[in-house]
Amino acid sequence: MISQSTIEEIKNRMDIVEVVEDFVNLKKSGSSYKALSPFTSEKTPSFFVVPSKGIFKCFSSGKGGDAIKFVMEVDGLSYVEALRYLASKYGIEIAEEEQSDEALEAQNKRESLYIVLNFACDFFQDLLMNHPEGKSIGYSYFRERGISDNEIKEFRLGYSLDVWDHLHREALKKGFREEILEEAGLVIKKEDRTYDRFRGRVIFPIQNVTGKVIAFGARILTSDKKQPKYINSPETELYNKSKVLYGISQAKQSIRQEDNCYLVEGYTDVISMHQVGMKNVVASSGTALTEDQSKLIKRYSENVTVLFDADPAGLKASFRGIDILLECGLNVKAVTLPEGHDPDSYSKELGTTAFRHYITEKAQDFIRFKTSILIGEVNNDPVKKAGVIKDIVSSIARIGDAIKRSLYIKECSDLLEISESVLIVEQNKLLLEKNKQRRRAQFESQEAVEPPLLPIDDEQIETLDIGKIIANQERESVRLLLNYGNQVVQKEKEDQQLIDYFLLEAEEIQFTHPTYNRIMTHFREKAEKKELADITYFMSLDDEDIQKTVIELSAPRYEISEFWKSKYQILVPLEVNHLKDVAYTNILRLKFRVIQHLIEEEGEKLKNASKDEVDEILDEINEMKKTEVQIAEILGNVTVK
Ligand code: CTP
Ligand code: MN
Repeated sequence: MISQSTIEEIKNRMDIVEVVEDFVNLKKSGSSYKALSPFTSEKTPSFFVVPSKGIFKCFSSGKGGDAIKFVMEVDGLSYVEALRYLASKYGIEIAEEEQSDEALEAQNKRESLYIVLNFACDFFQDLLMNHPEGKSIGYSYFRERGISDNEIKEFRLGYSLDVWDHLHREALKKGFREEILEEAGLVIKKEDRTYDRFRGRVIFPIQNVTGKVIAFGARILTSDKKQPKYINSPETELYNKSKVLYGISQAKQSIRQEDNCYLVEGYTDVISMHQVGMKNVVASSGTALTEDQSKLIKRYSENVTVLFDADPAGLKASFRGIDILLECGLNVKAVTLPEGHDPDSYSKELGTTAFRHYITEKAQDFIRFKTSILIGEVNNDPVKKAGVIKDIVSSIARIGDAIKRSLYIKECSDLLEISESVLIVEQNKLLLEKNKQRRRAQFESQEAVEPPLLPIDDEQIETLDIGKIIANQERESVRLLLNYGNQVVQKEKEDQQLIDYFLLEAEEIQFTHPTYNRIMTHFREKAEKKELADITYFMSLDDEDIQKTVIELSAPRYEISEFWKSKYQILVPLEVNHLKDVAYTNILRLKFRVIQHLIEEEGEKLKNASKDEVDEILDEINEMKKTEVQIAEILGNVTVK
């Protein structure tokens, strides 16, 4: 337990800007700061830091709070972990309320995992530096490879003895439970025997953004071909391979300062580049790059320089991974190293100055680089050339910025000796397809739109953003269902409740607002079990946004204010009596707005479309217009407002 006085001290010392800055590229904007949200992949900044209030607010994810909350959110830490992080950032000594053995006390499993991983890391480090086997085998291996003491310390490198259960035994002695060792990926349990995962290897701890050890990579020291060169931790509750970049904790500060991030393949590449003073370097650890990893880089800089080895097959395979970087809006440069070299070996060969010079001199724009590599293989073969054109254009089409795209098109038209318009047609095809996919995805998980509190009048609608109107209709649906879900709306054959009527009628509608959408999912899931999700049910969920919305919408309308009171006292009974019509109108309006939204989007596309596509788009618009008119006609006949 951290003492109250320590918590107070942390709160006094922490500065929201300083804390956030370690994770996000902040730009001053008036009296506050602005940035791209670290929580979503937005294109325009909606993340704000207000230093005078000590808070952050992210409009695209809805997250907000003080510096502690920010650290919790950005790195998935618990409250206590966040406090410890801040304490170490500000050099505050933590006073423990009672000096008990942390690991035994820790209730929180994640916390126990962090603790046991950190124990293992210290353990391996100690063996490397102090144990005879560690010194003579592990330490001398690192020294032979030219890794200095400074890097050994900074990257917390270690060594595991060539013994079956060394770590296992020592950890049990320290009071760690066997299950936690297994869950941390440190030991392997087979039938009646438990043994260490890493044995007789040098250890590369993998750390998260805040520098906590979350996994290990362990390299063999012999050239035994029967064993894998590296053994890595399995995925655990803390370690998700696709979200981690090796070295990010040591590199983040420098990536921001240099406004560039070097991307390499291996652990040793990161360490060697760090050693020659290029500290803004991270590794994908030999796997294909993911969107999460690209976003992680983008938190610190929009510029990436990828270091490729010269082997042509490997080069082409890695091109695909680079498209993810482009798609995330990063500016990508490329450098190739001479055949047979990786950054580790080449920096050792050239030495610090020449290597740094080589990398900075040879870095060139990625699209240009890719084009020149691929064009070399065409040999006047038109089929091959067509393939290359498609390939290059597909990379260009991933770039979000239209101006950049058109510059690349121009340049590639020269390089490929083909007219710009051909490239543009090819590009537009891909953009069209991408738009379609994006639209689909948008309807599956819509970006948050803050709807106005009260339902709006139809006169106002024309001047409002259609996304807001849709969210407003959705809000109205949720309100009706919350307040009248169990009311019987049809008495003729079988009693039908409003909820069932609504779910049936609105079956194909996907709500765009994330909170309302989640509420609808609860309604659906409950209804499948023939139960009603009511206000009590929603309040019992561990979902703050849902709770807020439910409270807001379940308040009877006439309590909103004195002014509205008289007005709505008349309206409320009316609403109950005409529930079915009210719901019906609501659903129709919702469908109507969704259609209008789609038409609008389709119309936007016309601007950039080629001749062939224009017809296709117009057909789609016409189909949708028909539906729009149908709905409008029905809406005109429905009198209940
Ligand atoms: N890798 C792995 N498992 C393997 C081989 C490779 O996880 N069996 C990952 C490691 O993260 C490694 C990276 O892929 O760092 C690149 O592999 P490679 O170039 O073979 O290793 P290097 O890092 O260059 O290691 P070394 O220089 O010691 O050979
Ligand atoms: Mn290597």
